[in-house]
Amino acid sequence: MRLRNVPKSLEPVRNNPSYVDRPDELKGKWSEYFNNSNSIYMEIGSGKGQFITTHAKSNESINYIAMERYSAVLGILIKKVPEEGLPNLAIIDADAENLLDYFDDGELERIFLNFSDPWPKKRHAKRRLTNIRYLEIYKKLLKDDGIIVLKTDNQDFFDFSIEQFELAGFLLKDITYDLHNSPLVEGNITTEYEERYLNQGLPIYGLTAYKLNSYDLGLV
Ligand SMILES: C[S@@+](CC[C@H](N)C(=O)[O-])C[C@H]1O[C@@H](n2cnc3c(N)ncnc32)[C@H](O)[C@@H]1O
Repeated sequence: MRLRNVPKSLEPVRNNPSYVDRPDELKGKWSEYFNNSNSIYMEIGSGKGQFITTHAKSNESINYIAMERYSAVLGILIKKVPEEGLPNLAIIDADAENLLDYFDDGELERIFLNFSDPWPKKRHAKRRLTNIRYLEIYKKLLKDDGIIVLKTDNQDFFDFSIEQFELAGFLLKDITYDLHNSPLVEGNITTEYEERYLNQGLPIYGLTAYKLNSYDLGLV
């Protein structure tokens, strides 16, 4: 058991039944943790949690994992989760850098990347969550029919992401340079950052990346 000094402000996070202190111990066992074989969707970089908690509350037959590396931000996310937790939500205080410590091959069905930090400087490109080194890891953790759903306000990051997904052999669909003025917006659940950019009148870029490429799908 990892012993940590938990600041008082973070006690509500650690005390919430949806919080998982040792995600590494659940590697390959997430279905056992949720006590069902439902699909598992994960958001990497959940921030203040509006997106993932809204999803979890409205889709009880899907399991959700909120991954966020700053525990202080989790202190805000947890306010959106009932004190008794949500049975289909797991919250982990973790860095995408260590994904392979937490998940086995094919454990996830969907990964959401919402307004990931764009790391605009070229020398920081490796830190972008859509850098091919991350995409290769996501590919391992996704089921064969798994997908990655991305939204961003940053066109350079978006264009970079498209290039990296293609390099990694994903099939891209539903590419939009203005999500909120496209039919794809139907059923869209907004994030805190998304609302901020929408209020500024900025376009939101989006895409869906399929693990199986056109060749695997028999389309070529
Ligand atoms: C720009 S915010 C977006 C938050 C939220 N998804 C939204 O759209 O409102 C990016 C979030 O991703 C988290 N993050 C960045 N890199 C991460 C990583 N490697 N692992 C886990 N979380 C990360 C940051 O701490 C931050 O909360």
